[in-house]
Amino acid sequence: MRKRRLIESFYNWISMAGALIALTAFGVTLTMMMLEWASGRENIYLGIVTYIAMPAVLIFGLLLIPFGMWRVRRKEQRADLPTLDLNNPKHRLTATIFTIGSMVLIVFTSFGTYEVYEFSESNAFCGETCHAVMTPQATTNQHSSHAEVECVTCHVGSGATHYLKAKLNGVNQLIGVLTGDYARPVRLPAHGMRTGKEICQSCHVPENDHGLYHQHFERYKMNKKSSRHVYDLLIDVGGFDRVSGEANGAHWHVFNKVEYAATDELMQEIPWMQVTYTDQSTRVFAVEGASKPEGALHNVDCTTCHNRKGHEFATPFHAVDAAITKGYISHEIPRIKAASIEALAEAAKAEDKTNGLAAIGEALRTYYDDEDPDVLDEFASQLDVATQSLKDIYQANYYPEMKSNWTSHPNNMGHFYAPGCARCHDGKHQADDGETLSYECSGCHTIIAYENPKGELTSDLTGLEYVHPDPDEEDWTDTPCYECHGP
Ligand code: HEC
Ligand code: HEC
Ligand code: HEC
Ligand code: HEC
Ligand code: HEC
Ligand code: HEC
Repeated sequence: MRKRRLIESFYNWISMAGALIALTAFGVTLTMMMLEWASGRENIYLGIVTYIAMPAVLIFGLLLIPFGMWRVRRKEQRADLPTLDLNNPKHRLTATIFTIGSMVLIVFTSFGTYEVYEFSESNAFCGETCHAVMTPQATTNQHSSHAEVECVTCHVGSGATHYLKAKLNGVNQLIGVLTGDYARPVRLPAHGMRTGKEICQSCHVPENDHGLYHQHFERYKMNKKSSRHVYDLLIDVGGFDRVSGEANGAHWHVFNKVEYAATDELMQEIPWMQVTYTDQSTRVFAVEGASKPEGALHNVDCTTCHNRKGHEFATPFHAVDAAITKGYISHEIPRIKAASIEALAEAAKAEDKTNGLAAIGEALRTYYDDEDPDVLDEFASQLDVATQSLKDIYQANYYPEMKSNWTSHPNNMGHFYAPGCARCHDGKHQADDGETLSYECSGCHTIIAYENPKGELTSDLTGLEYVHPDPDEEDWTDTPCYECHGP
């Protein structure tokens, strides 16, 4: 028999099995850590096994050791606790192994658990682990002004409670992802959103009066020349005026409470709202026949207007216009604006990305075959470049697998492609005293310059009348833009 180096009571089958389990778990953990370091890649599932599951097994094994020893002593009907005698070499070795082992274990697991924590809070985790599900938001986020802001900064919040809440929620979602049982497109609550105030005001200070916000738009018509027309808007963002002590402009809503009821999931239809002004007086605005609804009301906050700041799905119109302006799509190709819009509309019908990408080239060819076949030869090289640019636009903004694009996720900023501000400011919401929330153009912005398709520029800092690019279109004055231009 081999010489027994450890404390005598260790030599029972339970304690020895415990030691074996612990050693195996330790070996596996170590190997997996080395593999992870060697590959230089973090993998959350491997991480969970390495830093959480294996250490749990290790601890279980370690606990079995004293348990086995305690059983031996009980069998021997000894009531006293085992004595530890450091002068006894067997005891000394046992104690040393146990102490060093435990210390190594604690250091490794706390270090590892922190790694898992950090990784599970990273964009890679949100975007890649839930790969197909979160791809639309993860990709569009990279093109946004908040590309450097982590998903969790807006979606989870800091602190242990937020973390736990999100992760408990996440377990449900993980099951959904594994079984393929999730909504397409994904909708809120993505991990239970906090209010815009809590999210956005950790970085932005609406107390600042933002004054006027300059927007420059270069747009192209759907005619043969894709005629360019340009306008510059000054949008009255405003904020809190420290001198008058009053709020004004679009950020007026941040300082006055507006509660509203929506009849649809995307909150695009708002028949009823109540304002509580800073002096605590209240007023109700409602469309004809609407009364205070049952159930919870929503508060207007940052995300009521800036709902796509984290990840926006560009409309084909804005995306194509921007590409023409930058020269990615040549303005020289006849009818290129109309052809591009048509191509993206065809691609949007595809069931998956591969077919969508293929549809773009095909649709462009079909379009010119029908409208102007000479273009295909004459502008062959420019059309190749344009096709690639349209594929880039499609790649970044259309996600057929998740049924996500600009139509499924309307942008509430403005009123061109979605109701946005005109959900309330449409001239149809009336208060008891007869006042309406007006759709008066100058209530929100002034057009200070306009260059018509002939290249003639007019400008006036006090504001110009809006000129609709289609002279035949007369209804635009009393029909909101989105009713004709929306999806
Ligand atoms: C600047 C803040 C911000 C950041 C950063 C951000 N989001 Fe969002 N996200 C929002 C807001 C606001 C909404 C709610 C949109 C609405 O009200 O319709 C939202 C909605 C969502 C939704 C629900 C579906 C949708 O698009 O409306 C998902 C899923 C989502 N975000 C995932 C992500 C992922 C993944 C990341 C990181 C790659 C991320 N978000 C980064 C602010 C942010
Ligand atoms: C972690 C800090 C952070 C958070 C949280 C954050 N932002 Fe920002 N935001 C920034 C920074 C930095 C910029 C400037 C980025 C740039 O111009 O490239 C910016 C720019 C903006 C702009 C102007 C640029 C544009 O795209 O129009 C708006 C509007 C804006 N943020 C709104 C919001 C809203 C709404 C939220 C909440 C949903 C939010 N931000 C949350 C840091 C943040
Ligand atoms: C009623 C709608 C509305 C609400 C609510 C709202 N905003 Fe805005 N905000 C606007 C508009 C309109 C602009 C002009 C920018 C544009 O057209 O894209 C703007 C612009 C901004 C800008 C850019 C200003 C600049 O000069 O660079 C920031 C930052 C911003 N908002 C942050 C916030 C934050 C933070 C909140 C919540 C506390 C908030 N907004 C609430 C409508 C709103
Ligand atoms: C949920 C409904 C709602 C939405 C959405 C909304 N508003 Fe308002 N807005 C109101 C109400 C209510 C008032 C107060 C009207 C009053 O008291 O006469 C108001 C007032 C205003 C004012 C006047 C502020 C002042 O100085 O008195 C401006 C400017 C304004 N909104 C701009 C916007 C813009 C721009 C958007 C879109 C980005 C927008 N609003 C979206 C409900 C809304
Ligand atoms: C309740 C506020 C509000 C009212 C009323 C309003 N607008 Fe706007 N409008 C906005 C905001 C906010 C934007 C900026 C959208 C953005 O940042 O892309 C905008 C954008 C625009 C644009 C640029 C659209 C683009 O993408 O090319 C035009 C043109 C425009 N408005 C015309 C009008 C006209 C004409 C009227 C009157 C019939 C009007 N607006 C009434 C708030 C308003
Ligand atoms: C009654 C329907 C209708 C309304 C309302 C309407 N439009 Fe149009 N719009 C058209 C038609 C039709 C065209 C012609 C198609 C073309 O040449 O692009 C057009 C073309 C345009 C274009 C050039 C092409 C493009 O898609 O970019 C712009 C910009 C535009 N409209 C802006 C607006 C704005 C801003 C409003 C709201 C103030 C508005 N329209 C309201 C019907 C309408």
